[in-house]
Amino acid sequence: MADTQAFFDYITTGNTFKGDAIIMGAAMLDGETVTNALVKIPLKTINRHGLIAGATGTGKTKTLQVLAENLSEKGIPVLLMDMKGDLSGIAQPSPGHPKIDERHEKIGIPFEAKKFPVEILSLSEQKGVRMRATVSEFGPVLLSRIMDLSETQSGIVSVIFKYCDDNKLPLLDLKDFKKILQYSTDEGKDELSKDYGRISSASTGAILRKVVELEQQGGDLFFGEKSFDTDDLLRIDENGMGYINILRLTDIQDRPKLFSTFMLSLLAEIYATFPEQGDSGRPELVIFIDEAHLIFNEASKALLNQIESIVKLIRSKGVGLYFVTQNPTDVPEAVLSQLGLKIQHALRAFTAKDRKAIKLTAENYPISEYYKTDEVLTSLGIGEALISALNEKGIPTPLAATMLRAPMSRMDVLEDQELKELITDSKLVRKYNEEIDRESAYELLNKKIEIADREEAKEKAKEEREAASRSTSRSRSTRTRQSTLVKTLTSPTVIRSVLGILGKMMR
Ligand SMILES: Nc1ncnc2c1ncn2[C@@H]1O[C@H](COP(=O)(O)OP(=O)(O)O)[C@@H](O)[C@H]1O
Ligand SMILES: [Mg+2]
Repeated sequence: MADTQAFFDYITTGNTFKGDAIIMGAAMLDGETVTNALVKIPLKTINRHGLIAGATGTGKTKTLQVLAENLSEKGIPVLLMDMKGDLSGIAQPSPGHPKIDERHEKIGIPFEAKKFPVEILSLSEQKGVRMRATVSEFGPVLLSRIMDLSETQSGIVSVIFKYCDDNKLPLLDLKDFKKILQYSTDEGKDELSKDYGRISSASTGAILRKVVELEQQGGDLFFGEKSFDTDDLLRIDENGMGYINILRLTDIQDRPKLFSTFMLSLLAEIYATFPEQGDSGRPELVIFIDEAHLIFNEASKALLNQIESIVKLIRSKGVGLYFVTQNPTDVPEAVLSQLGLKIQHALRAFTAKDRKAIKLTAENYPISEYYKTDEVLTSLGIGEALISALNEKGIPTPLAATMLRAPMSRMDVLEDQELKELITDSKLVRKYNEEIDRESAYELLNKKIEIADREEAKEKAKEEREAASRSTSRSRSTRTRQSTLVKTLTSPTVIRSVLGILGKMMR
């Protein structure tokens, strides 16, 4: 049919790139797959971010899996935020299935079963590499935003960070932070107000309550040592395949604050530490966030602004961010407008609201003479999606209803035994999972208070003796405290980033 030939040429021309690209599947016309009309995504524009959307069960997570596998195969490391725990199967080859063969026959590319190098990460006590950050690294700006502090309260947090920096008091975990908050309006009141201005106990009380809230969401598990080195996300295995790092977040769904805290700090850290990428033509790291509505739903306005700006900035570091969610409207407009790749699975039109959402979604796709986009949106089958990517010049590729290829790895999760073996064999687990609670602000301040108390007692005894011998010379107890401070606080610890990564970023 001439029509099909013209369509084939249109798709093929629009999907021919100078550099390397990932094959997603073959384009469909009137519900039929056009064999070998391959739909591709150029590696060069992967850092332009993207969205994978669609109703439940339409194939979003498998599309994520396909993308991750193909990036890994090209030596590009990947980080997956696995909310439902359904991605671990990537570490095992697909058992294959006649339906998969049929699918690939239609597409025109052979199916190959394959496993990929996987590292399992965790934010809590679940199995896997523990990802942590210290309070110092997190920085006052981000910490204040995450706790939704007022301007005055944020000011106090900054002062406290400065004080800890000046006095070499490492802020590692929330215990340290709470201790210094208390100290600043209690034993250390005079000392701090002299150099940093008076801190009101009403404000520190309010901040403390927010810290407790953060702790209750599991923040005490996240803050501390050993802090995760983002370079460990960039590993390539001995066969040149990029590691697929799977962060299991099944226990985090009901703790949105912890999750958005983590996401932001990770992105900020990546932004601060990754080198600026020239025109390398391929991404350094690709991050997928499954069930992404979780980070946006409960985020405050301040936090949303932060996310927006970092999404914009991180591109230059060669990092692509992909949001996977049911409805495009789950993602804030300001983020949505920055996404280069859109993969839209089927939407369902049950209610008037659904139909409105479908119309809106359709309008956000390039116009195509081959499709009535809103109709296609409701008629796509499972494992089929509308794809609109950016070509190497940043211009949208032809809109294509696509029969997607199947994942090369297992579409199901790992068995317990397989997971155990994976974790036992992991070098990173050994690197990060020892418990460390080295001397930090909490211990140092306690020691300081103790010594000051002792000195004070000694001082008092001395004064009494001196008074008895009618001496008039009196040294002030505050001065004693001062010198004690210098003696006790000579911990060699270097605070990696006291003003916080984000402070750096926003300048
Ligand atoms: N690309 C694909 N190839 C083969 N089967 C697929 C593909 N995408 C989806 N499926 C089938 O559809 C099911 C649901 O897909 P999934 O990605 O879990 O949906 P969602 O994340 O949208 O809820 C899968 O378990 C699989 O059987
Ligand atoms: Mg899913």
